[in-house]
Amino acid sequence: MASARRSALRSMASPPSTIDQVPTTRVRARAAILVVDDDAAMRDYLKEELEHEGFTVEVANDGRAGLERVKRGGVDLVVSDVKMPEIDGLDLLREIRAVEPCPYVITITAFGSIDTAIRAVKLGAYDFLIKPFEMDRLLLTIDKALAERALRSEVVRLREEVSRRDRLDNLIGRSPAMQEVFSLIRRVAGSPASVLITGDSGTGKELVARAIHAHGPRKARPFVAVNCSAIPETLLESELFGYARGAHSTARTDREGLFVEADGGTLFLDEIAEMPLLLQPKLLRILQDGEVRPLGTNKVERVDVRVIAATNRDLAVYLRDGQLRQDLYYRLNVVQIHLPPLRGRSEDVLPLAEHFLARSATRAGKALRGFTEEAKKIILAYTFPGNVRELENMVERAVALAEGELIGPDDLPPVTRERKSQDRLSTAVAQGLTLDQLEREYIERVLDAEGGNKTRAALRLGLDRKTLYRKLEEYAAAPKPGSDG
Ligand SMILES: Nc1ncnc2c1ncn2[C@@H]1O[C@H](COP(=O)(O)OP(=O)(O)OP(=O)(O)O)[C@@H](O)[C@H]1O
Ligand SMILES: [Mg+2]
Repeated sequence: MASARRSALRSMASPPSTIDQVPTTRVRARAAILVVDDDAAMRDYLKEELEHEGFTVEVANDGRAGLERVKRGGVDLVVSDVKMPEIDGLDLLREIRAVEPCPYVITITAFGSIDTAIRAVKLGAYDFLIKPFEMDRLLLTIDKALAERALRSEVVRLREEVSRRDRLDNLIGRSPAMQEVFSLIRRVAGSPASVLITGDSGTGKELVARAIHAHGPRKARPFVAVNCSAIPETLLESELFGYARGAHSTARTDREGLFVEADGGTLFLDEIAEMPLLLQPKLLRILQDGEVRPLGTNKVERVDVRVIAATNRDLAVYLRDGQLRQDLYYRLNVVQIHLPPLRGRSEDVLPLAEHFLARSATRAGKALRGFTEEAKKIILAYTFPGNVRELENMVERAVALAEGELIGPDDLPPVTRERKSQDRLSTAVAQGLTLDQLEREYIERVLDAEGGNKTRAALRLGLDRKTLYRKLEEYAAAPKPGSDG
């Protein structure tokens, strides 16, 4: 009975013709097909025919066994009957679609059940065949499905490769400059050499420092960041090197310094230009000998710390003016990584914007998909004096404001829409601005660029914070010339 059926089926299968000429043999040899059918005769027939065509074929005699097999992985394509007891073909299909990565499914339905076939496709089947079908037809469908699947996984692979190339941890960068930075980070991560990271405020220096740490053998040990400009000179010394009880008036107990805390790991010395001259020899000593001497002691501790320093200043000026010791500079600057301003790497702007959008939207629980074309144009035309930090602030603000699915021009701050004059100073001259007025505009612009952060604005302006506060108070008291009131 089975063999009678088999010969009947065989007679329906005309010999494969055209597809054999297509270079499918290689694809076929590597493709694993699972045949799911409760009808033993059909199962055996399909297995034999498909193996004959060069496929690797496994069989399952019901939906449950089929699903189990798919879950174990390695199945590229499922050819499944629909009408089966317990888990039928449609249920199986639904379950298979939830498996990652899910194989393509071709369903076989009985004559007269076109509705079922359509439902199968709606559920995500690649295609359907109606019994009785010709073997040729099945082979053609299988080859098409496998070709499409191969193409799709190639797209996924390429996309992954591109995104891998465009990022390093949290660092996004498509520009040649950032690609070079990524490559430097990877190369330098494994060595204990000191690294000096230079670049304007907001270009990502701290993120780079963290990436170096995270990619090296010290990643399981601490990464300790110190901002040399944020800590008063007297405190900085005891913060860095530690102190013994009684070393100064507030030193009630012994305290370990940050160098000891970072032992085995990385110490990130941010704003290194602000390192007080008096502390520089001590720092040099640690870099040279790995020895720390806490304040108020004669005891010397050995530490193994990798130092990464960063600055947004032109260190040549500090060297020239004697504010930075040459020998320390050479010790710190074994490898230098420079981060160019964002306006010089326009390829990075949109990928960064999209990265920040995705992150802020998730945090805010908003279903934002992207930017309108108009908004993209505005963003690309803007010069970002505050670099990546400014872009990040801008996107966060836009996410907070946006109402639709896309961020539009109205969600962007007004400053992005002001037309840039070719020569800002000639405009100022033409406007007849006084030096005070010009200073005020500049200060306000920088403060904007820093998202209102006065500490950072002061840093960028080269002012101390008190001076900035005083100026801002004066501005608040005196309305801008030209504005009402
Ligand atoms: N390439 C980048 N990819 C993703 N985020 C970035 C990138 N560069 C900078 N950022 C983000 O921008 C902000 C500023 O970066 P970071 O604090 O590292 O700048 P910085 O150079 O140390 O600035 P400053 O000199 O003002 O201290 C951070 O929130 C950081 O996450
Ligand atoms: Mg920083």
